[in-house]
Order: sequence, then C-alpha cells, then structure tokens
Amino acid sequence: MICFTLSADTLEGVSAQVNRYRGCFDILELRLDLLRQDERERLVHDTASPAWAIGVPLILTFRRLSDGGAWNGDDTERLNYLSALVEQHAEGLVGEGLFLDLEDDVVAHDAGRKAADVAARYGGEIIRSRHVFDRTPEDPVAVLRELAGCGDPGEIPKLAVQVRGSRDLVRLVRAAIAWLDGMDAGDAGAGGAGEARDKRAIIVGMGAYGFPTRVLAPRIGSFLSYSSEPSKGREHVAPGQIDPRSMAELYRYRSLGPTTEVFGIIGNPVLHSRSPAFHNAEFDRKGRNAVYVPFPTDDVPAFRELMALLHIRGVSVTIPHKEMVADWFRAAGAEGASRAVGTAGDPGADVPAVGEASTELLAVGACNTVIRDADGRLVGANTDVAGFLEPLRSRVPELRDRGVTVIGAGGAARAVVYGLLSSGARVLVLNRTLHRAESLAGEYAKLGQVTAGALEPGSLPALRLHNDILVQTTSVGMQPDTDADPLAFYEFAGTEVLYEIIYTPPVTRLVARAKEAGCLVIGGEEMFLAQAKLQSDLFAQT
Ligand code: ATR
Repeated sequence: MICFTLSADTLEGVSAQVNRYRGCFDILELRLDLLRQDERERLVHDTASPAWAIGVPLILTFRRLSDGGAWNGDDTERLNYLSALVEQHAEGLVGEGLFLDLEDDVVAHDAGRKAADVAARYGGEIIRSRHVFDRTPEDPVAVLRELAGCGDPGEIPKLAVQVRGSRDLVRLVRAAIAWLDGMDAGDAGAGGAGEARDKRAIIVGMGAYGFPTRVLAPRIGSFLSYSSEPSKGREHVAPGQIDPRSMAELYRYRSLGPTTEVFGIIGNPVLHSRSPAFHNAEFDRKGRNAVYVPFPTDDVPAFRELMALLHIRGVSVTIPHKEMVADWFRAAGAEGASRAVGTAGDPGADVPAVGEASTELLAVGACNTVIRDADGRLVGANTDVAGFLEPLRSRVPELRDRGVTVIGAGGAARAVVYGLLSSGARVLVLNRTLHRAESLAGEYAKLGQVTAGALEPGSLPALRLHNDILVQTTSVGMQPDTDADPLAFYEFAGTEVLYEIIYTPPVTRLVARAKEAGCLVIGGEEMFLAQAKLQSDLFAQT
C-alpha cells in the first residue's frame, strides 16, 4: 500500500494535498502534530468527519519531537487527544480501515492504554512504532519482535530507522526478509485470517541510503510504504521519502510483489539519476514484473551482499563506483573466472560469484553494467563505449583516420578514447593536467594513433590537425559554473563536429559557440539514451 503522509498545517491544506495526489495512494496518514493547534481543536470538535478522509483507510499519527515530529507538549494531553478524536470520528471513518500509530514506550501509559482500547472498541487497529534516528539497530528482528509483543495481539509493528550507509541497508533488508520467513514458519499451524494478519510489519529505512526500502516495500514484505509531498518546509517529514505519484507511476508500486525482479543503479549520489525513469518505463512497456531502483551506495562489497539477498538481476553502475566494480572482473580474470572473489564486508557473507566481462570493460577499466548469467554469476559490461560511438556514427559513419580532440583525461574520457581508437580515429587528448593526458595516451598507444597535450593555447597547432571532431568530457561549463568554456582559446571554423557528453545544462557556452559557427553539435542526452538502451538490451537477456 502506498501511504500518503499529509503534512499541511490546516485542514484545507490537507484536503488540497489529497486532491493533488488522488489516485496515487491507498491509505492516508494524518500527521496531527503538523496541524496548527486551532485546526486540531476544530477537527476534534467537528461533528462531521472530514470529507477527504471518507472512503479511504486512514492512519492517525501524533508525533512527538523525540520521534521526529512537531509535538513538544504534554504526552498525556497528546494521547487523550487521540482517544477523543477516535471517539468523535471512528464511526464515520472506520469502514475502510482506521489505524492509530502509538509508540512502544506508551504501551503501559494510562492514556496510551486508553487510546488503544478506544481504537479497538471501534474496530480500529494499532501500529506500534519505534523510531531510531541515529542508526540501524544491530538486530532489527529483535526490535520487531519486541514491538509485536509489547501491546495487544494483532498490532502491527513499525520500525523506522536511520540507514547510515550500505551496510545498514543490508542489515535492514536481511531483517525484513527474515521477519517474513520466520513468521511463515512460526504461523504454519495458525491458519485462517490470523496467519496473514500476524505477518504484517512496517519497515522503513530513513535517509538517502534507506531509499530502496521505500520502493521495495512490497518486495521485502513491508505492509505499507510512506510517501509525502515535496515542499520547502519538509523538515518534519522523514528524509529520503518520495512523492506518491513517483511511487505509483514511475515505480509502478502497485504492481510490485514478493516475486518482482529487482534491478537498479549504484552510485553516490544517485537519487537524481534519470535511469530509473528510463528502465522502469522499459519494463512497463515489455510487461516484465521487474523494478529498477536507485541504490545510493557507499560500500560496494556490501552492495554485492545485497545483490545476493534480493536476487538482484542487473545493475547500472555510475560515479564513483565504475572502477571498483570493474576490479571484481579484473581480479576474477587474474584468478580464473567464475570464482567468488573480492572482499565482502562480512567474512563468509553470501555474494554472487563473478563470471565473464566484456572486452570494453577490461580495456577501459570501468564497468557500467552488471547482469546475471544463467548460473547467477555476475557478467560485466561497459555500454558507455558503444553508447558514445552510436550517436557519433550516425553523423560520421566512417571514423577511420578522422582527427579527433578529446578534452579531459578522466574516467569519462577513457571510454571515449578507447571507442575512438578502436574505430581507427587519430586522437589528441588535451587535459588541464598534462601528465594525466600523457598517461592515458601512453596506455592506449598500442590501439592506434594517440597523442597528448595541455589544455592551453600552446596546443592549437596540434588541435588544428585533430579538429574533424571535438569531444568535451570535463565538467567545465556544467552547472553552476555555466560561464566557463574549456576551449575559450579555440575558434570554430564551422566544419567541426562538437560532441558534448555532459547534459546539464543542455546548452553550454562551448555548445553555443559551436552552433553559432555552424558546427554540427551532439549533446550528452543522446549518449545517455544510447547507453541506457544498450543496458536495457542486456537486462532483457537476464
Ligand atoms: P569523469 O569520470 O567524469 O571524467 P574525473 O575522472 O574526475 O571525472 O575527470 C574530470 C576531468 O575534468 C579531468 O580531465 C579534469 O582535469 P584534471 O585531470 O586536470 O583534473 C577535468 N577538469 C575538471 N575541472 C576542470 C577545470 N576547471 N578546468 C579544466 N579541466 C577540468
């Protein structure tokens, strides 16, 4: 279920939020602590239940400051308010399902007890919650067990924890899966509705690293997932949340389940990547029960454990992890393929074995795509090389003996230079730091004609011998530094093809100058789409 957390401070604001996202949520959470005091008063005294809350399941939540909410007042007053609110409106609202979120430390509190009893009397249910804002507990299953056992039978435990990095995420996902499995076994004899009911738990990974738990809730067995409207003053809504529309439409949340195949992208940062929009749309178009999720990753070996845990079928790899993932395959090549190599964070942890890698990956030393072969082994590829060449070849079908200048000598330039040399072009690498250009040229010298120079006017004579095509691979000219121009010392003749592989902003100063001179310009957008399409073809094979 997609839960939409209502964060407005007035009832009109709440109603407007509901209208903006109608059709994108399955259950609403009213955050009473975020409402103004006078609005809370109005709500509890109104005889009519709010129209927006009718016909949809509702969670009533009144969060304290210490649990990440806004209520800093007396706890008894808070809990008594909840009892009064349920008394006033339960009959109107319980039909579709009414839930009361109560923290585990108020289980023995008189007012907390009363609120739970009132809810039960009207057929409402209790979500028994705990928030941990500084870490993911060592044993999340033990905490879930405590939560499930502290109140009345049938309560839904909710554990929301800060996920500080990939290792925390592995622990939380492992706990979610164990919880589901454990309940399966333990409830074997119970039968009936009670069996399904007792499996329910809400597991939330907060923060950027916890983001995958939100999208993958149906896959890891969480009863619901919270989403909220993006806004400026969102400090009281948990970090890493997404909006209900992205959940419903981009991630196709309602079509996900325990057997959904998982794909994703690892990088850091990666939550603003455009790859999820591309690959989820592809899965949708192909009718595949699969989802593609961004995994912000600070620990690549930990992510490999996650690949085993979630049976992840394929991943895109982006900055800064392309080289480290390539090392899995290089190490495997050195030791003989198909062995599980590389250090997993936990000794003895279950990680998928490493299989084959493409020629491009090994030559460039960067991996941007990993899929599984029929035996579950990891297969590495680099679609940046072909993704770079494709848009170029559609304009310049024959690259042999063409003079090409590549600006920059970083990771992106490596794939570009390799692709150009493999196609027979003559390449000049210009870089701010000359020795990096020289070492790149030296490394690829055996593949073809490649020379190096400094990114300065002194390189103009060499540049004029390599100006059929210019490829810009540096971050110069990107936001926020949009006035910068890495080739300010060069005047376009108008006959050059300029290929700018950066795509924000779409028109850099360099691109504007080239267009003005009448050059043909290829933007980074095209390379993004070409490499994503090639990745999608690889995903289709796994
Ligand atoms: P990527 O993987 O995106 O290529 P990278 O490996 O950090 O990133 O490489 C960045 C490239 O942009 C390098 O060629 C870098 O030049 P240096 O090797 O001299 O660092 C280049 N670059 C970054 N900022 C630059 C600037 N202000 N002027 C010129 N070149 C710059």
